[in-house]
Amino acid sequence: MLKAICSRKELRSTSYYSCVDDIIGCRELDRLKDITHHISTTRFQHCVNVSYYSYIICRKLRLDARSAARAGLLHDLFYYNRKEYNSTREKKQPSHSSMHSQIALENAMLITDINPVEKDMIEKHMWPVTRPKPKYKETYIITIVDKYCAVMEFCVPKLQNVVNSVKR
Ligand SMILES: [Fe+2]
Ligand SMILES: [Fe+2]
Repeated sequence: MLKAICSRKELRSTSYYSCVDDIIGCRELDRLKDITHHISTTRFQHCVNVSYYSYIICRKLRLDARSAARAGLLHDLFYYNRKEYNSTREKKQPSHSSMHSQIALENAMLITDINPVEKDMIEKHMWPVTRPKPKYKETYIITIVDKYCAVMEFCVPKLQNVVNSVKR
């Protein structure tokens, strides 16, 4: 089953899926399934979460929902270990925040055509931690959804543990 966090919907049978079906099964995204992200999820699942909720919000607001779905799925397409990078980084090297979004954009461009909205969304998804500021409304949305998903990914498993321990 392919689901976003806090949603029961099987995404393969939704209009969302038709926006990403040519890229979601590719080898480059598959590799993200083996990488832990935000402590209790995988980088692949995080990208699905950001992709799906960015798509839903952009569709509601009549913005470019297809680009939002695609950029969300590709926005963290990088493979290095964040902690290792930060611990060995020299002062003149870019921060993880600005570096991973540039690497994600380069990797995304290797697997599909990226339009200007998608490019802006991927490379600026860390705003306001990184500069310059977004050019499109869709980019502002991914910056919020990315942070919202990070909080949910961290908190939901912990809340589930609490609920399970109370049930016992
Ligand atoms: Fe990111
Ligand atoms: Fe992210």
